[in-house]
Amino acid sequence: MTYATIDPQRIAELTARETERLNNRTVASRQTYQRAHTHLSGGVASSYQLRDPWPIYLEGGEGPKVWDVDGNEYYDFHNGFGSMVQGHAHPAIGRAIAERYPRGTHFAAPTEDVIVVADELARRFGLPKWRYVNSGSEATMDAIRVARGYTGRDTVVKIFGSYHGHHDTVMVSIGVPYSEIGDRENLASLAYGAGIPAATTAMTIAVPFNDAGAMERRIDRLIAEGNKPACVIMEAAMMNLGVVLPEPGYLEAVREITQRHGIVLIFDEVKTGLTIAPGGATEYFGVKPDMVTLAKAMGGGLPTGAIAGTEEVMSAVEDRRVRQVGTYNGNPLVMAAVRANLFEVLTDDAYAWLNHLSDRILAGCEDVIKRYNLPGYTVGLAAKGCVTFSPTKIVDYESYLANQNAPLTDLAWLFNMNRGIYMTPGREEEWTLSVTHTDEAIDAYIACFDEMARELTA
Ligand SMILES: Cc1ncc(COP(=O)(O)O)c(C=O)c1O
Repeated sequence: MTYATIDPQRIAELTARETERLNNRTVASRQTYQRAHTHLSGGVASSYQLRDPWPIYLEGGEGPKVWDVDGNEYYDFHNGFGSMVQGHAHPAIGRAIAERYPRGTHFAAPTEDVIVVADELARRFGLPKWRYVNSGSEATMDAIRVARGYTGRDTVVKIFGSYHGHHDTVMVSIGVPYSEIGDRENLASLAYGAGIPAATTAMTIAVPFNDAGAMERRIDRLIAEGNKPACVIMEAAMMNLGVVLPEPGYLEAVREITQRHGIVLIFDEVKTGLTIAPGGATEYFGVKPDMVTLAKAMGGGLPTGAIAGTEEVMSAVEDRRVRQVGTYNGNPLVMAAVRANLFEVLTDDAYAWLNHLSDRILAGCEDVIKRYNLPGYTVGLAAKGCVTFSPTKIVDYESYLANQNAPLTDLAWLFNMNRGIYMTPGREEEWTLSVTHTDEAIDAYIACFDEMARELTA
């Protein structure tokens, strides 16, 4: 298959034009940045919000739309890094919060909602025992601790390139240049940024996605070295290199290997849980892990998360070997929002609508790719999806690095932002659709992609 040649010079020209246009449209953001960065490091609340020459400051959002401090309105396909699958300011969640507030918002004691939510999550994910946390990072941190406590082992296996939050154990072997990956059978353990102890980094072993053989060989070597892993933590579909699907049979093979060796399998469902199916990737792919982690879309816009496990694994929490604790765990205000989210917003009808929107955006983008003969393809699972600019299929971090067209994806972001499509700055993020998105919102996305394709290939 020969694709249209996309001239890097053309990408550079369009990028310069679109950058200038965005700069001119976001003057109030520039002024806000000048004020913000006096006392706020980089002018942002998290380094993932950084952007040169300045971040775009948002003012509000409602349903599928957000608007910035310059008054530019956008359809939101960023949706708070995949959290706002309910759309902004959903009335059912607003009502639940308003009803809870006058009855008190925090006791650090269990309330009715924590029980109802656990029952519903158990039904959706098929795992019997749940606990709450306050973010995705806390979820993966606690799940790993439970796995370590349950097995009495320290080593953690993860997928090279996967992101599981910002605690030390999982800030390893993500986002590194190709030259540093190492040999595929012996991928490097590399700290993701400064401040992560070498001893912790060395305890996390990364293996390639979609290669059960490589995982098994690495586990065998670790066992021979006396370092049998406590757990494998992974996303069933990788969600930080666009969307990378598991190849047929891969998850089943991982399940079999981990089971045979008595290694806890954790599906990190911080992104996939509640967005791709009512019971997340566990339901979607039909492979049952020993533990799952949730956060993001669970809270309907409030910070929360959860861990779950089998009776056996979670016995380590119940018999108090592992201290799973936290002042704000199961906070009543948040749990009122979660309850409304699960029972009133993310219903079966909501998933049917998300699937409809997904089919529409995938078909529309696929049509653009075909008409302009672009080197790329689409991937989508209900609320999540992306266009991957690559002539060949991405199956793991290595193929992602070898094929990604970073300047083109940067240009796509600028194009979107200048045409009322709000996306995540940085190239690896996928879109998140919300239940409030309409066909019109989807068509706006496709029209913008079409315009970029036309200009690129003109
Ligand atoms: C798969 C996955 N796990 C964990 C996290 C961490 O979640 P949080 O940012 O809420 O700590 C993220 C965040 O993007 C994620 O994508």
